[in-house]
Amino acid sequence: MEFEEVIKNRKSIRKFKDNGISDELIYKLIELANLSPSAGNLQARSVIIVKNEEIKKEIAKICYEQDFISKAPVVFVVFANLDESAERYGERGKNLYALQDATIFTSYLQLIATNYGLSSCWVGAFDENALKKLFNIKENLKPIAVLPIGYSAEEKKRPPRKSIKELIIREI
Ligand SMILES: Cc1cc2nc3c(=O)[nH]c(=O)nc-3n(C[C@H](O)[C@H](O)[C@H](O)COP(=O)(O)O)c2cc1C
Repeated sequence: MEFEEVIKNRKSIRKFKDNGISDELIYKLIELANLSPSAGNLQARSVIIVKNEEIKKEIAKICYEQDFISKAPVVFVVFANLDESAERYGERGKNLYALQDATIFTSYLQLIATNYGLSSCWVGAFDENALKKLFNIKENLKPIAVLPIGYSAEEKKRPPRKSIKELIIREI
């Protein structure tokens, strides 16, 4: 797919076909997203890959009953590794860089998935503590995004965007 096409084709999809995703493809997505930039190349992010039906249902509940999540064949949960970034960059590492490392990784995942004909939806509404408890996650890992991925079962129009004029504060 042309890069511009990838950007234009990515839309938040909340209905998925039953088809699974091969492990080979899952690892391909992660491998490529792993090439995304990170502060000081610390790569202060980690991911949990969920295929288990019961755990997907638990995640959907923790995301305030967003049931569509459990219908995706695979759900990625992306974490920021706060300590890893704080060790070198202090508060800025903990409060900004680690979050950005995980966010950039998730953005890449969405686009790479699109390139492979998959669809996804970034889910940010979740009970952070409940999610950490579900996975028995250490204090220093902060969940950043839940990303259900699968083959789309819906046609979607993109919601409108701000105009470029609204976006640009100033041109100097
Ligand atoms: C940080 C963030 C949090 C989001 N949280 C949710 C969410 O909890 N549930 C959901 O259905 N969509 C969520 N979305 C998807 C947005 O609703 C979607 O990206 C936006 O409406 C634009 O639509 P598009 O992605 O199709 O271009 C989130 C997106 C982002 C970037």
